[in-house]
Amino acid sequence: MTSLADIRSTFLNFYGRNGHEIVDSSPLVPRNDPTLMFTNSGMVQFKNLFTGLETRDYQRATSAQKCVRAGGKHNDLDNVGYTARHHTFFEMLGNFSFGDYFKDDAIAFAWDLLTRDFGLNKDRLLVTVYHSDDEAVNIWKKVAGLSDDRIIRIATDDNFWRMGPTGPCGPCTEIFYDHGDHIWGGPPGSAEEDGDRFIEIWNLVFMQNEQFEDGTMRPLDMQSIDTGMGLERIGALLQGKHDNYDTDLMRALIEASAHATSTDPDGPGKVHHRVIADHLRATSFLIAEGVLPSNEGRGYVLRRIMRRAMRHAHQLGAQDPLMHRLVTALVQEMGAAYPELGQGKALIEETLKNEEVRFRQTLDRGLKLLDDELAILPDGTDLPGETAFKLYDTFGFPLDLTQDALREKGRGVNTEGFNSAMAEQKTKARAAWSGSGEQADASVWFDIAEAKGLTEFLGYETLNAEGQIAAVVVDGQPAEVGKDAVQIVLNQTPFYAESGGQVGDAGTLKTETGMVRITDTKKVAGVFIHIGEVTMGEVRRGQAAVLSVDVDRRADIQANHSATHLLNEALREVLGDHIAQRGSLNAPDRLRFDFSHQKALDTAELAQVERDVNRLIRQNTTVETRIMTPDDARALGAQALFGEKYGDEVRVVSMGRRDGSGKGVDGHTYSLELCGGTHVSRLGQIGAFVLLGDSASSAGVRRIEALTGQAALDHLKTQGEALAQAAATLKVPAADVAARVKALMDERKALANEVAQLRRDAAMGGGSGQAADGVDVNGTRFLGQVMDGVSGKDLPALIDQYKDRLGSGVVLLIADAGGKAAVACGVTADLTGRVSAVDVLRAAVAELGGKGGGGRPDMAQGGGASVDNADAALTAAKSVLEGLS
Ligand code: ALA
Repeated sequence: MTSLADIRSTFLNFYGRNGHEIVDSSPLVPRNDPTLMFTNSGMVQFKNLFTGLETRDYQRATSAQKCVRAGGKHNDLDNVGYTARHHTFFEMLGNFSFGDYFKDDAIAFAWDLLTRDFGLNKDRLLVTVYHSDDEAVNIWKKVAGLSDDRIIRIATDDNFWRMGPTGPCGPCTEIFYDHGDHIWGGPPGSAEEDGDRFIEIWNLVFMQNEQFEDGTMRPLDMQSIDTGMGLERIGALLQGKHDNYDTDLMRALIEASAHATSTDPDGPGKVHHRVIADHLRATSFLIAEGVLPSNEGRGYVLRRIMRRAMRHAHQLGAQDPLMHRLVTALVQEMGAAYPELGQGKALIEETLKNEEVRFRQTLDRGLKLLDDELAILPDGTDLPGETAFKLYDTFGFPLDLTQDALREKGRGVNTEGFNSAMAEQKTKARAAWSGSGEQADASVWFDIAEAKGLTEFLGYETLNAEGQIAAVVVDGQPAEVGKDAVQIVLNQTPFYAESGGQVGDAGTLKTETGMVRITDTKKVAGVFIHIGEVTMGEVRRGQAAVLSVDVDRRADIQANHSATHLLNEALREVLGDHIAQRGSLNAPDRLRFDFSHQKALDTAELAQVERDVNRLIRQNTTVETRIMTPDDARALGAQALFGEKYGDEVRVVSMGRRDGSGKGVDGHTYSLELCGGTHVSRLGQIGAFVLLGDSASSAGVRRIEALTGQAALDHLKTQGEALAQAAATLKVPAADVAARVKALMDERKALANEVAQLRRDAAMGGGSGQAADGVDVNGTRFLGQVMDGVSGKDLPALIDQYKDRLGSGVVLLIADAGGKAAVACGVTADLTGRVSAVDVLRAAVAELGGKGGGGRPDMAQGGGASVDNADAALTAAKSVLEGLS
């Protein structure tokens, strides 16, 4: 028997021999088409070669392309398991000519391969052509000698192939196999064409036109070929089977499922095994490419396929999670042709297992609810939409899973009711949002979310991707065109939208008609808003756009974000487990981390934290991300879980190793945090970590600011240069700068004291005309003087010295304090009973335009507006003494 693996390589080698480049399958997540959810045919990766937008160094190619048709326009999910030829995952064998050979060779190659290499009986083959394509009819006659009755002209789109609403297209010819009159069915175009007798095996498309958005179709500059043959179909035929699921590869997977559940592969669980075999392939290939289960976009399609398979496993009576146990069989069957399966095996198994463990927590209860509902439902009625919605919302049953479960019981779901229950929930979410008053103009984003769905984020995996513009918003209003300041929403984007402390991405967005500089990205209600300025031309709603994130800026942001995780853990280690994150900022130029802690960090603590983080950076271990339940995350040692409910899943980012016991699956992980942000892939990419310091943010909350990478190095460089300059000025080695500065400061202080003393001495010695021992006023010695070059602060010391000199008496000193007058008065202790320094001072101050002043009876101080009236002030002071009895 020829295995599917043999058929695949026979096909590729046949075209390889005939001058075709054997090209690897492209990823299932298309890199070059923003409108496609999954690659659904072989030509997707060559799309731009047909239109001439791209050229390569070959003009003929052949491939075995992995395809998924589940979700979006081509959705085969519902029929899988119940029919002979539906798959969510399949392989498409194809040959392609880009302006090289055309109809003649395409038909001749196909006929040769089928009838010689594959050895099919010519009499069993017949073809269809587009009704007006006489050329193809003639070639078939010439090459294959087919009679007119075996060349069927079809006027419908069945024989005019388009990749989508726009893009390359053309008439096609399809090759059919007649299984014989023992099977019911008629040839294509007949009333019985849906029967199983005549099976299409190969589609040859003559790419000669391009379809445009405005409805026009124009001839392409060059004529090309695109063909597609399902490996599973041709495999069944060559293995003498009628059912794709009876081929060797599919059978091996079905038997693995039967073995793992100890059930009969062909018994009552037959459908279950077929669904499991198909879904195992689709889910494993998607996970191998990094698609992880989520509640939106591709991740949700993956989840739907996974959960559907898991219900069938449950129906088989599997007590434990089943899917992950079948991955080995899949790798055995397909790992040689698709090495990504073997490389991703651990991730595939873990993801399948996590999902199945989680889903099993509600599956039983959900199915019981379903049974209870069905028991009371009148015959022939559909399940009410509200019940289906409850199953979806509370028990995690995707709608198609419920439909699948009901199909076995011959019932449907009232999808209208389901949709209106869903709409009602969205309205409530919206009301709750407006109620929170977070953003007054949020309604425009909710409208977009409802009409266009949520944005799918591609930026964990790639920084460049295409997206389709779902909405253009100008001045807060939806618009068709943007020419200046714009806000743009796309169906998918690599731009990270600000959240969890990480700032939004910047970069560029290009369409056929214009270019936008994106300066920030934010997120409202699951819609990513690209905020920017049109720098060239204009952009329009509905256009395809090429999005490029500013790579250097993102790298800096990631370095800061990953360093923040390390810092968080280092703080816990140095200060204790009470450290809890209170806020953070991860910008391109710096990071900030707020955490609960009562007192300032001392130098030793700061140094230890900085050293720890740098040690982890030098470890240069890889950063790993997993999706799991909050419970699992907690069990692994993650902290800070809040607000989770059933079905919530969290991204868990782990980084660094510690020698002793740590967190994570391996028990040696340094940091494990829930985080939706983006990170470096290896810790070494952080480069360096420099703490700028610690300050108080609010009561009980400290704030650390730090730098990483080039910013950290630049900071150190600036500091170093400043130190070198100081050292050069001081003429000492850099290491001695501190000691030298301290010595200079001490010296300066001593000198300042000396200068003050000298000033006082000079003031006392050099009186201004008045005898240093004062004059007698009414029997009391009075010394009144205006002082030059003395500050107000010096006055009390001078008063004391004069009092000592007088032995007994009253001293009044007036100093010029920068234009104003500083005044002090002293009375020796023997006289305070007779006269108070305060009274004398106030009399003098009044003359100087001042007010008040005060002190004790032996010493008082005050000030005046100027020293101009100093003489009058001295006279006033004397009058006080004269007035004494
Ligand atoms: N692209 C063509 C198809 O998918 C061959 O049928």
